[in-house]
Amino acid sequence: MELKTVELTKEYGKKKAVNRMNITLTQGVYGLLGANGAGKTTLMRLLCALQQPTGGRILLDGQSIGKLGEDYRNLLGYLPQAFRYYPDFRAIDFLLYIAALKGLEGKAAKEKAWGLLEQVGLSCEAKHRIKTFSGGMKQRLGIAQAMLNDPRILILDEPTTGLDPKERVRFRNLISAFSKGRIVILSTHIVSDVEFIAERILVMKAGQIIHWGRPGEITSEIQGQVWECTVPVEHADRYVAKWNVSNLRNEREGYTVLRVIAAQQPMENAKLVTPNLEDLYLYYFQEQTARETYATGGDHTWEGEDAR
Ligand SMILES: Nc1ncnc2c1ncn2[C@@H]1O[C@H](COP(=O)(O)OP(=O)(O)OP(=O)(O)O)[C@@H](O)[C@H]1O
Ligand SMILES: [Mg+2]
Repeated sequence: MELKTVELTKEYGKKKAVNRMNITLTQGVYGLLGANGAGKTTLMRLLCALQQPTGGRILLDGQSIGKLGEDYRNLLGYLPQAFRYYPDFRAIDFLLYIAALKGLEGKAAKEKAWGLLEQVGLSCEAKHRIKTFSGGMKQRLGIAQAMLNDPRILILDEPTTGLDPKERVRFRNLISAFSKGRIVILSTHIVSDVEFIAERILVMKAGQIIHWGRPGEITSEIQGQVWECTVPVEHADRYVAKWNVSNLRNEREGYTVLRVIAAQQPMENAKLVTPNLEDLYLYYFQEQTARETYATGGDHTWEGEDAR
């Protein structure tokens, strides 16, 4: 199976949300990493045929997905970023309803729905109304509904939003077990999520994939540019304002260790360290990170798209 975009473009007026993108995805888990507004959701909606591109094409095994139509959509599972559910539905009834929309009924639907509730850790709450669920529980139900039709292509837009650390581990295992022989694409701006789940990371910025590779390899881009600098605690703020700092920790009394991204050694005692994905993210999105801190948050579950 090969899913390919050719010069894929989506413009909103003058804004190019996806800009002449050429990517080829074969089986495996792909982590789409990018800051707010990078174009992740737009790309995913295009891949799900929920939006029409303004330029370029998407091909599955060489055939246009527009021509494949329903045959293509039957292969898809999608968790929208703004996932809409029905608050008065019980979890199991919601899954059976979505299953029916996907053409799955009767005993097969029930077995699948109960199996998925078990897998996402919601079997004890199967008969509870969704409005009583926590954010993380709703998100897990959203993941379950995307998997109902055993999709060959699973597209999850920020699936780990609202999951606690234990749920994240469960999610990771679920995706690893599920991904064999399929294409799984998940977007996030939480670096540690994709670092462990994804076999390939796609870094998206301003509508384009600016970098991609395996988690262990992709950081080679900034090899020789990540430093640890030990500074007196009282000066730390000044350096943080001046340098591109990806992390800091207090090590011994009175001193802070800053992780700095810089082409040149930033100070005399600075030591080169091995770059990680967090550093790479900051390297690409440095000017956006501060803004993003204020722009994120908010529960989108009350308004949004229908599941499919
Ligand atoms: N319906 C729309 N009309 C106009 N502009 C849009 C529309 N949808 C998205 N955009 C713009 O396209 C760009 C990409 O948006 P998109 O939602 O794809 O980004 P994203 O990477 O998913 O961001 P986030 O991390 O915040 O979810 C943004 O600049 C956004 O403002
Ligand atoms: Mg988005």
